[in-house]
Amino acid sequence: MKLALINGPNLNLLGMREPETYGSTTLGDIEQTLTGLANEKGVSLETIQSNAEHVIVDYIHNGITDLSGILINPGAFTHTSVAIRDALLGTNIPFVEIHISNVYARETFRHHSYLSDIASGIIVGCGIKGYEYGLLALINTVNNIKK
Ligand code: DQA
Repeated sequence: MKLALINGPNLNLLGMREPETYGSTTLGDIEQTLTGLANEKGVSLETIQSNAEHVIVDYIHNGITDLSGILINPGAFTHTSVAIRDALLGTNIPFVEIHISNVYARETFRHHSYLSDIASGIIVGCGIKGYEYGLLALINTVNNIKK
């Protein structure tokens, strides 16, 4: 089973970006932890980060051939991107949406997500641990679909 971890804009700055909101762990550390967890669970994990919407859309399209599921932190595209929503709808790849911060306790423009209503699960406000919870939830979802 091949899964993907997609991180959207500005998440490459984790570790130095607004540490009071996002903590001090880098994206590299998160990707390493998740790859280890995926391996423990016997699945392979591809990681990608992009600040460009079309790169994320193209990546999801290419996933049609080999991705069983996606864990995605869309960053600010959460609140703006009909294009990423349509890519996920169009490919029908199951996905879990994750946010490090509790977006519902922040500015109102962060309360709306273009992805949440079509996600198989959502993890919000659990800090970077949310990536691990999200991966476990995704593996569980994909295994249930296969049954
Ligand atoms: C975020 C929340 C978004 O509102 C924000 O634009 C981000 C990060 C989070 O992980 O909490 O870039 O997705």
